[in-house]
Amino acid sequence: MFFDRPESGELAVLVHLEISQAEQSEDPREFEELVLSAGGDPVDFLTGSRSTPSSKYFVGTGKLEELQAMVKQHNAELVIFNHQLTPSQERNIEHALGCRVLDRTGLILDIFAQRARTHEGKLQVELAQLQHMSTRLIRGWTHLERQKGGIGMRGPGETQLETDRRLLRARIKSIHKRLDRVRKQREQGRRARNRAEIPTLSLVGYTNAGKSTLFNAITDAGVYAEDKLFATLDPTMRRIGLRDVGPAILADTVGFISNLPHRLVEAFRATLEEAASADILLHVVDAADDERARNIEQVKLVLNEIGAGDLPVLMVHNKIDLLSNVDARIDRDDLGKPVAVWLSAQSGAGIEQLMEAITELLSDNIVHQKVLLPASMGSLRARLYRQNAVVGESHQSDGTCVIEIRLPEADLHRMLSAESLTINDLCWAQDDDQASSVVAG
Ligand code: GTP
Repeated sequence: MFFDRPESGELAVLVHLEISQAEQSEDPREFEELVLSAGGDPVDFLTGSRSTPSSKYFVGTGKLEELQAMVKQHNAELVIFNHQLTPSQERNIEHALGCRVLDRTGLILDIFAQRARTHEGKLQVELAQLQHMSTRLIRGWTHLERQKGGIGMRGPGETQLETDRRLLRARIKSIHKRLDRVRKQREQGRRARNRAEIPTLSLVGYTNAGKSTLFNAITDAGVYAEDKLFATLDPTMRRIGLRDVGPAILADTVGFISNLPHRLVEAFRATLEEAASADILLHVVDAADDERARNIEQVKLVLNEIGAGDLPVLMVHNKIDLLSNVDARIDRDDLGKPVAVWLSAQSGAGIEQLMEAITELLSDNIVHQKVLLPASMGSLRARLYRQNAVVGESHQSDGTCVIEIRLPEADLHRMLSAESLTINDLCWAQDDDQASSVVAG
């Protein structure tokens, strides 16, 4: 089996220090949720503060003694730090405590390992795990008795732990190659969609905001959603039909999390690139979360980092069922353009409004007109039919064809230029140009 899971939660002591000189501080409550999400069973929580971490044990010697006592008292199997540890700190602490130590990156990687669903996602996790381990492997793992799996030890890396760095490097290289292949395939798919001008909507948002639930509500696709962080790792795509717009692709993406270590952002860049190529981002927010403002900022930071900072965004304030006095609605800017939708993915209230807002945003670029086509433009007419852009057709008494078209503006321009025509060569039909016998296309 790819990932070993312990049957019950591992007993874990958690460590969180306020580091006054640190640029950013992690949230201890979210840390606890992450541990639960990884299947850990927190038995004690060591907190404290320091101006800078100690280079040897991260914590000071007094705190280390407290930790030793906690581990002993609870017979804990694991100590998890809400911080990034250097390989030597991790080793020193493991020696001092006689149990496994995991840092924040290792913890997040473990969660990713459990949630990876597609082949590409699994490869990405394996790569990130191996890279994280390769810096730590040099010490050997002989100082630990328990090596049988558990948080941070799951995933394909486990057997690699006993192998030497040379094998590890070979494995990393082979995964890089496989990932390249998968990425190329994905790129081809994306190009095909672009050629077909099918608009893509990407759900992005902080972890646990309700993206998968909304994805289900929209597509009824039965995508796995559960009350754990990171229920989504790989983008899952579905084709949806939008009234007046036609088909669109809806993509679910990995939940963002604050201070995702930079190397992880790198590792999951390909997954997130799907979001970066979207026509519209649906930024899902848990409107009932006290931390929503901070989470929105964090998501924006990641979006900037993956080059998606300038894409059109529709904010989706989810979970209004948990708020009093908030009804489903669309918020608009001064020009009447939808900027936010308030809804509940769970109850379904506001899904209609969401579809309406999306349709409005996408139809901005849709041409829906009647056009007079003389016989000389027969080839253009054939092209429009091939593209499924013809909604109806009728003929005037002089034989001129009145054709009702609906297609993205860019598509129309492309077809015209293939016929050596421009938009100015088209003659738009007036109402009295309509013939009586409009045939549905
Ligand atoms: P990640 O994959 O971790 O990024 O999470 P996600 O954003 O995909 O969230 P998910 O859809 O898994 O939902 C997280 C939790 O919120 C689940 O327990 C959902 O049942 C719950 N949830 C989602 N939408 C709503 C809602 O409208 N109202 C309420 N009350 N709960 C919701």
